[in-house]
Amino acid sequence: MKSILEVAKSFLEDCIPPDGIVCDFTMGNGSDTLYLSKLVPDGKVYAFDIQPLALEHTRQRLQEAGAGENVELILDSHANFDCHVSQVFDAGMFNLGYLPTSDRIVTTKVESTLTAVTKAVEQVKVGGVIVVVVYPGHEEGRREGEALMETLSSLSSKRFDVTCYRLINIPDCPFIYAIEKRK
Ligand SMILES: C[S@@+](CC[C@H](N)C(=O)[O-])C[C@H]1O[C@@H](n2cnc3c(N)ncnc32)[C@H](O)[C@@H]1O
Repeated sequence: MKSILEVAKSFLEDCIPPDGIVCDFTMGNGSDTLYLSKLVPDGKVYAFDIQPLALEHTRQRLQEAGAGENVELILDSHANFDCHVSQVFDAGMFNLGYLPTSDRIVTTKVESTLTAVTKAVEQVKVGGVIVVVVYPGHEEGRREGEALMETLSSLSSKRFDVTCYRLINIPDCPFIYAIEKRK
């Protein structure tokens, strides 16, 4: 079976053109940012994190890969992404939780996650996708998963298709919500 991240990426690959505009809403160590930058060689990636260390790691990762000319690294909460991205964008990715290999003190939080996801589904293009990877194995992640389920279930079915992809025999396993804006 495909890994959760592979499934998340397959949702994105279906709707992003080479000159697309995409958002990495949780930059972390930059592996998703690098992946997205390669998906849009003629486009642009806006990547967000609230930790300066994440920007440092991502800048280094992009440099080592000889990539990143099409990436803007932004030190701000994804809840404020619309202050930096004024146009409609093609797709976005949230990989929630804490910086891998960090002390886990800084993690994504229910309130800002809901604000950002709610704004993102409005600003994404028609036919575009927002993918959210949720980690219910820690308390805040469990709460984010529940709050997102409530919010996303109430999105208009005339405007959005919302999917949840989950291994139902492993309750703590990461899972995905994917929201597509209907054509
Ligand atoms: C699981 S990591 C992301 C992994 C990353 N995409 C990668 O490829 O390494 C989650 C990241 O979200 C960041 N984060 C937490 N709250 C945030 C917020 N309000 N806005 C943007 N990023 C946030 C954390 O600092 C952490 O680096």
